[in-house]
Amino acid sequence: MQQRPIQFYYRGDIVRVQQQPPTRTVLQYLREDLHACGTKEGCAEGDCGACTVAVGELRHGELVWHAVNACLMLLPALDGKALLTVEDLAALAPDGLHPVQQALIEQHGSQCGFCTPGFVMSLFALASQHPGAGRAEVIDALSGNLCRCTGYRPIVDAGVAACAAPPCLPNPEPIVAALQAMATAPALDYRAGGARLRSPRTLAELAELYAAVPEARLLAGGTDLGLWVTKQLHELPELIALAHVDELKTIEHDPEWLRIGAAVTLTDAFAALLAEYPELAELARRFASPPIRNAATLAGNIANGSPIGDSMPALIALGARLRLHRLGAERELALEQFYLGYQHNALAPGEFVRAVLVPRRLPSNAAGPAPFIRAYKASKRYEQDIATVFLALAITRDDSGVVQDARLALGGMAAVPARAPQAEAALIGRPWNAVAVEAAMNELQQDFSPLSDLRGRADHRQRLARRLLWRAWLDSQGMTPLQLDELEPIARPAPEETL
Ligand SMILES: Cc1cc2nc3c(=O)[nH]c(=O)nc-3n(C[C@H](O)[C@H](O)[C@H](O)COP(=O)(O)OP(=O)(O)OC[C@H]3O[C@@H](n4cnc5c(N)ncnc54)[C@H](O)[C@@H]3O)c2cc1C
Ligand code: FES
Ligand code: FES
Repeated sequence: MQQRPIQFYYRGDIVRVQQQPPTRTVLQYLREDLHACGTKEGCAEGDCGACTVAVGELRHGELVWHAVNACLMLLPALDGKALLTVEDLAALAPDGLHPVQQALIEQHGSQCGFCTPGFVMSLFALASQHPGAGRAEVIDALSGNLCRCTGYRPIVDAGVAACAAPPCLPNPEPIVAALQAMATAPALDYRAGGARLRSPRTLAELAELYAAVPEARLLAGGTDLGLWVTKQLHELPELIALAHVDELKTIEHDPEWLRIGAAVTLTDAFAALLAEYPELAELARRFASPPIRNAATLAGNIANGSPIGDSMPALIALGARLRLHRLGAERELALEQFYLGYQHNALAPGEFVRAVLVPRRLPSNAAGPAPFIRAYKASKRYEQDIATVFLALAITRDDSGVVQDARLALGGMAAVPARAPQAEAALIGRPWNAVAVEAAMNELQQDFSPLSDLRGRADHRQRLARRLLWRAWLDSQGMTPLQLDELEPIARPAPEETL
């Protein structure tokens, strides 16, 4: 590891940063140092999307652009990558406006315009990855962008139109060459403003470093840690980044387990999980927003240990385990044993999560009916919101419909995500029917004594948990609510009908 500047590709050059503290965000750097003020600051906490930028990196040799929130991204996270902001788009188009910008004008998708740069960048990233994307994909891509004056219909129309236009992307050649050149730089050891960030490249380096400095803070996607900086104004004098550790970036499939490395983004982790468990689609879609999922990791969600974290109930219901690593020694732990109390986990000093292990789905010819798996999130807002209560369940029945195994896991009901032992006991050995489910619903009250807070009172949480279990029962009987894509496209009168 070598002391060197942070370097990234921006507007035709490799920019080298050496005097900014490692906790400076990309947004602060853009606006205050580079005076590139097209990228806006709304909330500084990942919620509004005004600060969205596109970050480019090589995937299997191909340049890929994805949207991220510059307000949460710490500058060192740009090391070795390319940055594209709203000011850079017009230069890509021969007539001076990028198709996304042109479509927003034509569809009247902007009024005060404060949110517009963020929408433009989210749509640019979508169009670059999914040319021809339809309405549902556009709505999903924009779930992290708030607009307070235009209304979303014209913005979504503009998104659909922009994705239908021919792709308009930066010339990849110089960018790929710069990314390849930066990849040969030594591992980053960056010091400025009294703080230090090291970015090891191998598992052994990481383990040695963290064991030597266990008080250091690990930085994965930084979507939780970024808030420590922007909202809680914490000093983080020692950071160790996980993003460049090769062994943590893999997703492995063996016959029994799906192993998701600790530096794999949620976007990639959910893609692998959904291939195995399509029932988790709603969890994947409603977990934050694409810019957050493009940065955040599954291991970060687990290690952060919020009682309302979304992934944990689902993973606990599936029987996931964690592989923990400390100085070359590894151990495995069931995820539900990881949490010892509120924001207190089983990691020893210098130990970290290496991978999340999710059991593979049994082959369809395995004995008995396929397990019934569901995950439900109840939150005040459908998208981009923290759960009030999260329920996940996996019910295994025999051929006669008697429950052999039941795993119910809930978030938002206790200091940690937890199983519901009494509700599970009320189901096991009984036929899966409304009577058994109602008995289990009653037992949830014995399993949990939730707190009241701004997301919901204790009795509301109890009711939600019961109703979510009832929803699972209805779902198992084929009574599913209308899906979002069944509501789309929004029926709009043809222009002549409105005259
Ligand atoms: C706008 C917004 C919306 C969000 N929406 C949701 C949501 O819908 N559902 C939800 O559950 N969460 C949500 N979150 C929270 C956050 O995005 C997730 O918890 C995310 O998965 C954290 O991962 P990360 O890689 O960004 O973690 P980081 O911020 O990098 O790290 C989080 C913590 O975990 C530690 N850590 C990270 N990796 C490891 C490791 N391998 N071993 C040990 N410790 C480690 C870090 O040191 C830090 O203390 C949201 C956050 C924001 C800002
Ligand atoms: S400023 Fe609101 S998401 Fe970044
Ligand atoms: S155009 Fe004003 S907030 Fe969106």
